Amino acid sequence: MSDGLLESERTVEPADDAELIGKAKAVLEANWLGHATSPSRRLYPHQWSWDAACIAMGYASWNQERAETELRSLFSGQWRNGLLPHIVFTDGARYFPGPEFWQTERSRDAPEWPRTSGIVQPPIHATAALQVYRLASDRARAAVFLEELLPKLAAWHAYLYRERAQTDGGLVEIWHPWESGMDNSPLWDVALERMSFDAELLPEYERVDVEVAEAAERPSDGEYDRYVYLVSVFRELAYDSSRIKRVTPFALQPVLFNSLLVQSNRDLAEIARIVGDNPEQFQTWAESTASALEETLWDDEHAVYVDYDVEAGGRVGARTAAGLAPLYAGVPTRPRAERMVESLADSRVEVGYPGWAVTSLAPSDPGFQPARYWRGPVWPILNWVLQRGLDRYGYATLAAEVRSAIVELARSAGFWEHYSPATGRGQGGEHFAWTAALVLDVLREDELEPEALRGPKIAH
Ligand code: SER
Repeated sequence: MSDGLLESERTVEPADDAELIGKAKAVLEANWLGHATSPSRRLYPHQWSWDAACIAMGYASWNQERAETELRSLFSGQWRNGLLPHIVFTDGARYFPGPEFWQTERSRDAPEWPRTSGIVQPPIHATAALQVYRLASDRARAAVFLEELLPKLAAWHAYLYRERAQTDGGLVEIWHPWESGMDNSPLWDVALERMSFDAELLPEYERVDVEVAEAAERPSDGEYDRYVYLVSVFRELAYDSSRIKRVTPFALQPVLFNSLLVQSNRDLAEIARIVGDNPEQFQTWAESTASALEETLWDDEHAVYVDYDVEAGGRVGARTAAGLAPLYAGVPTRPRAERMVESLADSRVEVGYPGWAVTSLAPSDPGFQPARYWRGPVWPILNWVLQRGLDRYGYATLAAEVRSAIVELARSAGFWEHYSPATGRGQGGEHFAWTAALVLDVLREDELEPEALRGPKIAH
């Protein structure tokens, strides 16, 4: 044997991965609701929008039908104005806020069935749909699926540019921290603290999340009051975007949301090409959002991108690893990308040997809390976005190390919502579907066509 390894040692890794892949598939199976996959049976018993997209990517290589059904179910909740809701509800599951709290029947745009929430989540769906097509065992059937989904994806992106973008720019805005996907990130603290409302007048509500997960690993009650207040404003305004836009006390343009949108537009353009449609609109959107990220959100001092607080008319002060997301969409120039990679050290922790991962808040930040949801823990999705970005710019070794962290955390602790950056312990929701799906996605790396899936390497 030329490398001196024993035969038995050679086979250890593939066998381990096969076992992990089996466990990941079992998590998806256990969360399967019959029409969609819940992120985690007790904590999140319905279907969530960006989870569903990641879950479809996880199904893509081994169960084309499930992958298609996952996305089809999500889009069955799409509103007539194109809004793709962040939750599509399943009957009878215990969760707050459920459909009776959202009262989306107040809007003429909401479907009667399925019941849904009235806000959105990061747009990663076209990317998921394209991956489902590329990994499909039956390409012809997958092409028909793309044809079916294209107008719905186009309506979703059109909603964002029509209702959520300023007239002069390509950045879209969120009106609720839940729309960011990073609910209690310090990125929203200043905007939330600025909001004034009378707590006495809040609709009555009872949290369920703290009964089914550790309260210390969830957002605080004070944050929940603000989340609930914003929903009460939206439902009072019958989810009418033109009215919400005028009065919402919370409006931000997040880097992560807009970066995922750039890539989704690029992928939607590709979907249009595949089905023989015109890709132009999607390319135009991709370029306008990419240019706006470059021109408005680059923070030269810290070498990351920063969110913009539309209400306050200024940049958000907090810095997190979400600011690295433009790498994923091929947005930064090569010199900027190089500086971003150097800045990684701030939020990097050694977990999942031989890998390392970025945390949701730098350990050196005074607000760092290793167990508290988006205020410190390691989230697989942020690291998944990062490894695609690193690969795209040719940092193959770094990308592989991040993938190793995603995989090894799951192998040693199981499939959790997030992990402790100090110990690798699993936190938040257990048997977590999108963690399982992202592990399935990164373990398939050798079989992928990196150029096709991740876009061409950047050489600015
Ligand atoms: N992520 C939110 C929750 O924790 C809702 O989208 O319930």
